[in-house]
Amino acid sequence: MIYLVAAIAGMAGFLFGFDEGVIAGALAALRHQFGIDPVMEGVVTSAVPFGALFGSLVAGRIAESLGRRRSLLIAGGLFVIGAVLASLATGAIVLALARLVLGFAIGIAAIVAPLYISENAPAEKRGMLVSVYQLAITLGILGAYLVGYIFSESWRIMFVLGAIPGLALAVGIFTMSDTPRWLASKGLLAEARAAIAKVRGIAPTSPEVESELVAIQRAAEGPVEKASWSDLLGPTVRPALIVGVGLFILQQLSGINAVIYFAPTVFKESGFDSHSTQLLATAGIGVVNVLMTFVGMSLIDRIGRRPLLFIGFIGTALSLGMIAIGAATDLPWLDVVSIISLVIYIGAFAASIGPLPWVMMSEIFPLKVRALGMSVASVANWGMNFLVVFSFPTLVTSLGLSGVFGIYAVACLIGIAFTWFYAPETSGASLEEIEEHLKSGKPFRSLGKGKTSAVPPAGPALAARKS
Ligand code: BGC
Repeated sequence: MIYLVAAIAGMAGFLFGFDEGVIAGALAALRHQFGIDPVMEGVVTSAVPFGALFGSLVAGRIAESLGRRRSLLIAGGLFVIGAVLASLATGAIVLALARLVLGFAIGIAAIVAPLYISENAPAEKRGMLVSVYQLAITLGILGAYLVGYIFSESWRIMFVLGAIPGLALAVGIFTMSDTPRWLASKGLLAEARAAIAKVRGIAPTSPEVESELVAIQRAAEGPVEKASWSDLLGPTVRPALIVGVGLFILQQLSGINAVIYFAPTVFKESGFDSHSTQLLATAGIGVVNVLMTFVGMSLIDRIGRRPLLFIGFIGTALSLGMIAIGAATDLPWLDVVSIISLVIYIGAFAASIGPLPWVMMSEIFPLKVRALGMSVASVANWGMNFLVVFSFPTLVTSLGLSGVFGIYAVACLIGIAFTWFYAPETSGASLEEIEEHLKSGKPFRSLGKGKTSAVPPAGPALAARKS
């Protein structure tokens, strides 16, 4: 049953990736049909992260008041409505509005789905189950790229296909109960008992159900101090806030979504003339993104956060620099170098600066301000995602591909310095040790110094990607 929970919430991750990636294959046909200029192209594309920014702002509140299940049901419905509306669009404005709806759904799902998994999962399986969600995002991007390749001329089909996983999410979550934690918090104890029994596959009267319910209630009874903005900005938490927000700003400024949303355009500018070759190469990018996410997941606990961040930022800075040089010159062999560099770039991103900001944001904030800190970091993620995607078409027109990728390369160089000066090594430290270190007033980056090798952390890695 717990795998069904993960599968349904994973569907939300798949939709996140699908609706991000689908625009890549559709843009050429849209330019042709609606004659959109670079600014309008930026509006249509960035409507998704812009909508997600608002979705993520309301997600916490509706997940509390309506529950996790109903929030995901709403998101599923919006995914279907947005997909159908996008497929029927009569012009760029309607399409942008439809994508705004899809973005709003993503913003909700990106917070509530991992929450739904982590509140249902037994502690020992939580990290693994929540990382299913991260993987689902990359699978969604790949799915969208394949759809773009197969239906390269029919953008309406590409968009409407997003309604299928949307419907699957809505129907799937409809058959499930809410999380025991939310039900108990609303005083619905009989329902909470039934939910625990259902998800663990045991009888509601069994002692395990009762003891889990008691544990949930005890945790909820603890001192519930409300976190405030001054806690977040105070000297103890500020270093964590800088790392959480800073890593997301740099993750987005590395230009990942310029590639994810505009990959065929990037291939075109790099010298691939046939549209179907551009789309096939794009699907290749999707495959590398999925495979390297597995590599990242296996390295995070083994080599540690800081080394992996260095590898990621150095790899992306070098490969972006090569792409910039390739795009600036006419030498044909440099086109090949650019393509290889693009693959290295995606690989370095997917194994490192893709998952790491999510993992670290779930670890670094003290318990009291965790939810607040994580939502501020999420807003930084969507806000910068929007800025990069919105500005890309206009920047390419004014600076050329080499100029834009040059800027992203500089951001990755800054990422190396940022990691050096600010990033702590959280691998092998329990969440309580991290909190204690922050309270001690020692520089945050000195956490984990003196450890010879990274051991798996006591805290769930990707587990608390709740907000
Ligand atoms: C980023 C997304 C990006 C995705 C690509 C995530 O970690 O936050 O913005 O589209 O990786 O796989």
